[in-house]
Formats: sequence, structure tokens, C-alpha cells
Amino acid sequence: MIDPFGRRISYLRVSVTDRCDFRCTYCMAEDMTFLPKRDLLSLEELDRLTTVFVEKGVRKLRLTGGEPLVRKNIMHLVRQISRHLKSGALDELTITTNGSQLAKHAAELADCGVKRINVSIDTLDPAKFRAITRWGNVEQVMAGLDAAQAAGLKIKLNAVALKNFNDQEIPDLMRWAHGRGMDLTVIETMPMGEIDADRTDQYLPLSQLRSDLEQRFTLNDIPYKTGGPARYVEVAETGGRLGFITPMTHNFCESCNRVRLTCTGTLYMCLGQEDAADLRTPMRASEGNELLAQAIDEAITRKPKGHDFIIDRTTRRPAVSRHMSVTGG
Ligand code: 5AD
Ligand code: SF4
Repeated sequence: MIDPFGRRISYLRVSVTDRCDFRCTYCMAEDMTFLPKRDLLSLEELDRLTTVFVEKGVRKLRLTGGEPLVRKNIMHLVRQISRHLKSGALDELTITTNGSQLAKHAAELADCGVKRINVSIDTLDPAKFRAITRWGNVEQVMAGLDAAQAAGLKIKLNAVALKNFNDQEIPDLMRWAHGRGMDLTVIETMPMGEIDADRTDQYLPLSQLRSDLEQRFTLNDIPYKTGGPARYVEVAETGGRLGFITPMTHNFCESCNRVRLTCTGTLYMCLGQEDAADLRTPMRASEGNELLAQAIDEAITRKPKGHDFIIDRTTRRPAVSRHMSVTGG
């Protein structure tokens, strides 16, 4: 799959549920309305769809949400997909999780051939963790991280950089992560979906965070890449890696290699645009996969050049109306 800008699409992210057991203030409103259960694709349908993408050249697959591990029987899907790792058709199967259910599932994830996972954590402070996630418990996430490391999974932590919330704490979070052999990536908040808070109050450009960190640490740019938009530095003082994901201050769309599938079978060609393709109808229209493959090809021809995220005082509306939990970042 090659898009109109010559970019090879080799990475599929699948949001297996829009639900989550947390309500992070930058991600969701407290009283979110989720999709009715009857609109969800079955796990068998998700497997069928992802398999067609693998046949069409996807080499890396990430399960996201919402929180992927709250989807009922999710490990059944992971097990099914893992056959593509065994056959060599897929290079990597991975997951982005908030860690709340990780203690339960880490060993089985590793057993299915998952090697690396991303865990979202914005603060180590229990009270602040509760405040930012509204419903989360940091102890539970810590137990999940322990279990994941015990199972041999490599962990990358993701922290959304939030002005006047965790900006002062990033050095501690980084030392802690690096001390435990985990990478840390910081992310700028993106204007996706209506939330209760004002995003202009939360938004922290990472250029600023980086120059603050440079007062205290030696950050050496390194060419390390994980196939995503993060740009990495090695921190001389800790020996660990720190990534910056800067959708707002630096555009990385020219190297975009991914598309995103939702749990209703909608394909988004860009995180920051509304355009989407319905794959559920062509999938359900016939037993074979020809219509589905055609619909995917047609969608790829519509992949836009990039996103147009803006956060400022005059732009009151989010760039896209859907929340991050629909497409999983
Ligand atoms: N902007 C940036 N990151 C977000 N996330 C959720 N909502 C947003 C947003 N509006 C992050 C989560 C998680 C990842 C999947 O996306 O914290 O790390
Ligand atoms: Fe859930 Fe992740 Fe959104 Fe937090 S950021 S509410 S953990 S989906």
C-alpha cells in the first residue's frame, strides 16, 4: 500500500474499544457517551480485518483503545493475531495501555510474542495521578509495570506534557523510568474531542520543556527510531532514552507510515483529519475479502498530506471532533 505522497503504509493501529477505566482530563469528558455494544465489530471481525491488512503489507500492528485490555476476551484476539508473527508475515505486535489491567495479562502478552509495550503514565504522585486520570490508581499501574518487566516485556512510558501539572516532574519521571530500564516519551496535547478543561491552559510546547531539561541534563540527539514520530535523545546523566512527540510544534507527517482502524471498522487515514472510510459494510457484504481489499485501496488513495492541529485562544474548537480514545493516538 503506497499513498499519493509515496509513503508506504506498513503500520496499522487498531482501537479495539473506545471505552476506558480512566477518564484522563486531556482525553475525555467525565461523562463520556460510548458506542453502544451492538455497534462493535466482533473479535472475529477484527481478526479478519487485521488479517487483510497484513496480507496487504502491514508489518507492524498496535492494539489501542480506549483501554484495549478492558475489551472482553481481548487476549483471544491477541492470540489469533500472533499467528502472523509465527508465520513471519508480521514483524511486530504491540499494545498501548494505561497499565491498569497489565498485572493480569502481561505474562500472556509475552507468551503471544509481544515484545514491547507502551504504558501511559503522566505522574508518579498518587494524588496527582488520581487527579489527572480521575478514576485511576497509580499503585495498580505500578503492579502492572512490575508484572510486565517480570514477563520480559520492554516498556516505553508515554507522558503527556501538561503545563503547570507535570512539567516540573518530568525530570523525576525520567530518572525513575531510566533507572528501571524503561524509555520515556513525552507528548504534546492534541486538540481532539471536547473535554471539560481548556486545552490552552494545558498545552506545553515541548521545545520549552526541552530547553528546561537542558539546564540540568545533557541531551544528545540520536538517530534511534521505533517507526513512529518520536525523536529521541540520549540523556548522558541517566544513560536512558527520552523521546519527544511534537505534533504541534514540529510536523512529522512527511514520514507517516500508518493508518488507524476503529472498533466499528472505520478507517482513519490521518489522526488529525475527519475523513474516514467505512470498512464494515464491504466486509459484511460478502464472505470473501475482495470488496474489503478494494475499499482499503480506495481509502489509501485518500490519505491526506498531514494534520492541521492548532491550540490557541482564538481557536475554540478541537481540530477533530472525535476523542483520542476513538483512534487510540
Ligand atoms: N493529546 C495528546 N495525547 C493524548 N493522549 C490521549 N489524549 C491525548 C491528547 N488529546 C495520549 C494518552 C496515551 C496515548 C495513547 O495518547 O496519554 O499516552
Ligand atoms: Fe483512558 Fe488513555 Fe484516554 Fe486516559 S488517555 S482516559 S487511559 S484512553
